Amino acid sequence: MKRRDFLKSSAILAVGTTVPAISLAETRQSKSGDILDAKTAKESLIDSAPMLQNYAENSMGVAFSVTDMANGFVTYGEKPDLSDGKTVKCGGYRVTDMNDKVMQIRLTGLKPATTYYYKIGADRICYKGGYDMHILGTEIDPRIYHFTTAGKEAKAHFCVINDTHVQWPAITKIADKLAELNPSCVVWNGDACNTEETIEAQKRIFLKPEINRKDYASETPYLFCCGNHDSRGLANRHMERVWMFRQPEERLSRDWDLGRNFAVRMGDIALIGLDTAEDKLDTNPLFAGLFSSEAYREAQKPWLREALKQPEIMSAPYLIAICHIPLYDPDPTANPGDLRPADKAPNYSPDYASWQRTCAQLWTPLLQEAGCQLIITAHQHLYRYDAPTQNRQWAQIVGGGPKMDKGTKEYPTIVEGEISDNKLKITVHNILDNKVQDVFTFDSRKV
Ligand SMILES: [Fe+2]
Ligand SMILES: [Fe+2]
Repeated sequence: MKRRDFLKSSAILAVGTTVPAISLAETRQSKSGDILDAKTAKESLIDSAPMLQNYAENSMGVAFSVTDMANGFVTYGEKPDLSDGKTVKCGGYRVTDMNDKVMQIRLTGLKPATTYYYKIGADRICYKGGYDMHILGTEIDPRIYHFTTAGKEAKAHFCVINDTHVQWPAITKIADKLAELNPSCVVWNGDACNTEETIEAQKRIFLKPEINRKDYASETPYLFCCGNHDSRGLANRHMERVWMFRQPEERLSRDWDLGRNFAVRMGDIALIGLDTAEDKLDTNPLFAGLFSSEAYREAQKPWLREALKQPEIMSAPYLIAICHIPLYDPDPTANPGDLRPADKAPNYSPDYASWQRTCAQLWTPLLQEAGCQLIITAHQHLYRYDAPTQNRQWAQIVGGGPKMDKGTKEYPTIVEGEISDNKLKITVHNILDNKVQDVFTFDSRKV
């Protein structure tokens, strides 16, 4: 067996193994040199496996949960034993990001399509004031994880999941299937949340899920396209505290607030990630003027225009866009999300956006001109394929819902994309019945 193949098999085994959430305290050393044993420390400082966030060519985010005031770090390198390891602390310039909830470490300056190994750790901090702070001890998760960055030479293989809505039976099966498929990255296409008021609730969804595969995102990097539910609740107004933004240098100052939009190349495929925002108008009285989706959608147009012109995106034979709310609906009575002022009008249903006409008008001309073959969406909880037409040259896939009851139409899907026989092959997996629902192939665009 070649070394590369061996590593891949090891990865599958590692992902397939149920890892206890708390088995992490390899090293706990106090400032004075005393070893802190389990009796000394009340509970493990690190209480989740790491989650890889915002898959990219030159950077990778690592997030994990902590139980006490802490300063997290990642040690990473290209050697499996980390003998070449460099350590990066959480936070940016000026101060580290000391907090008692989530450690976020963004590794930058990485090489494209390269495998890196990494370990996580955290210092437990005693903080009593601006001049009175010290490190009580350090915990290091003994497991060495690994990831591979994106890039032209990376394996073109992705999966899209959506509308999981904190439904553990569905998420358990989805995580099992993802471990079997072992893609280069997974796009979580929105409505991971319902309405989340606390960081603890957000941590439960992304970092401490109630499934066996606590390490579901420790070696498979994730991308995130927000759904309407991912903006609801006090905590979700600052989702970036749990699901980090990309580094500021990864976007223009104009695009400061577009922290999770992505344009990423993996092999022959370019993936574009957009955020359709709320499914209610900013003027809907239900939201009391506290949402600003309209400006946000418009701000993504110049970002998209330039993202499509990036050389690594322009030269990709296959261009796929991903966003939560559909950009087309064949049903003329489906609410298009622009029924002013309160999302209601005769002959339309429901009383929120079923699809997003505003986003379609802003973004799809650019995508069509670029030769985009497929837009993968979600939101309607009902799997559907919309074939291209004379005027609309892109196909649309709408992912399924979170239900696992026998016979339901709202079954979960995984949309898998890869290159097969020099074509883009899209496989839609039905997670309820554990079967392939549909397979589609797409020809290369002219590049
Ligand atoms: Fe949903
Ligand atoms: Fe939705």
